[in-house]
Amino acid sequence: MKVAIMGYGVVGSGVASLLKKNYDQIVKKSMQTEMELAYILDRRTFPGDPNEHLVMADYTRIVSDPDVRIVVETMGGLHPAFEYVSACLEAGKSVVTSNKELVAAKGYELLKIAERKNVNFLFEASVGGGIPIIRPITQCLAANDIDEIAGILNGTTNFILTMMIEKGMTFDEALLLAQRNGYAERDPSADVDGFDACRKICILAALCFGKHVYPDEVHTEGIRGIQLADVDYARAWGGVIKLIARAKRLAPNKIAALVSPAFVQGHSQLATVDDVFNAILVRGDAIGDVVFYGKGAGAMPTASAVVADVIDCAKHLERRKFFGWQDSEPDYIADYLDIENAVYLRVTAEDPAAALAAIGSTLGAVQMLKRENAPDGELAFITEPITERKLRAVLAEIPAAVQSMIRVTDY
Ligand code: HSE
Repeated sequence: MKVAIMGYGVVGSGVASLLKKNYDQIVKKSMQTEMELAYILDRRTFPGDPNEHLVMADYTRIVSDPDVRIVVETMGGLHPAFEYVSACLEAGKSVVTSNKELVAAKGYELLKIAERKNVNFLFEASVGGGIPIIRPITQCLAANDIDEIAGILNGTTNFILTMMIEKGMTFDEALLLAQRNGYAERDPSADVDGFDACRKICILAALCFGKHVYPDEVHTEGIRGIQLADVDYARAWGGVIKLIARAKRLAPNKIAALVSPAFVQGHSQLATVDDVFNAILVRGDAIGDVVFYGKGAGAMPTASAVVADVIDCAKHLERRKFFGWQDSEPDYIADYLDIENAVYLRVTAEDPAAALAAIGSTLGAVQMLKRENAPDGELAFITEPITERKLRAVLAEIPAAVQSMIRVTDY
């Protein structure tokens, strides 16, 4: 059986080397007699690479070769990945991808093609890199009604926040270090503005709750605004700040989905997930809370998940795996302004006594926080659970300027 790889970057080359390194056991576990890496699609050339002779730039050669049964897409981006993957599925080939942008935007559409052509479209590596999460949700936890899923889904932002918390670096200093270490892109927007985590929670929400969630439906906030003052107040509260992507069932046909920085209690399993590691907490009615932890990026961890999908496809060439993933519906995603949360606020006031009185009369009991060397007029506190819509109205009545507002989680 022939396999092709589209995109010979970090992940694609990792897939090729893992296929070679563990070839015998991969073939055996695939229940095949052989597995030939036959084509690598990439516009670049790779002089001296052991697979140099396989690299070519014409994707139609893969599509038109009937012996290619499985195609690995590791190009990234939406176009032309979508067109190439569609063409491969239409040609009756199973496709495995690590491309979260593709799955988050086009997962439903591509699964429909796969269903029609009776082939598989698998994407374990698209969320959490090497962490097993797609199969656990769709198979191991299938008996549960899943209430909520929340995770640290972006390694770059988790590294930046870890450096701010543990080394007292500013956001800019930590971002520079992340770029020097090769974690963050030169344009780090997808990471630090939360878009990467957003795509991943869309995929997880679709799997947990059964309907496609499109990234532009999910309110997304990144970590650019986090100050060391907020890190200090989180510590005083007994926790840490993490970029949390989450989705929660509110009613049979309504979910909340959100990406934002959040205060996480120190005893939470998510609080100790540091550096570039990822973790995903799934809350099911039978299992309770279960957490999946590991390396969310990198060539070999991601290749581990991709090649596992290749093995799964090879074992199920004549049998399609069913995800039960429907298209979205209007009003399926709740307005984030109507979601209740306890909230951390840091404000500055010219007259702190007047601001405190107004806070007491509008917000009721709040938990005041203290930090060393706080400037005059700075107040920080945690509210009781409140919708953001109501909180905004209340804040207009308080004589203070909001410097920071961060949601508080209960896990
Ligand atoms: N930029 C991503 C991260 C890579 O930092 O987690 C893995 O999707």
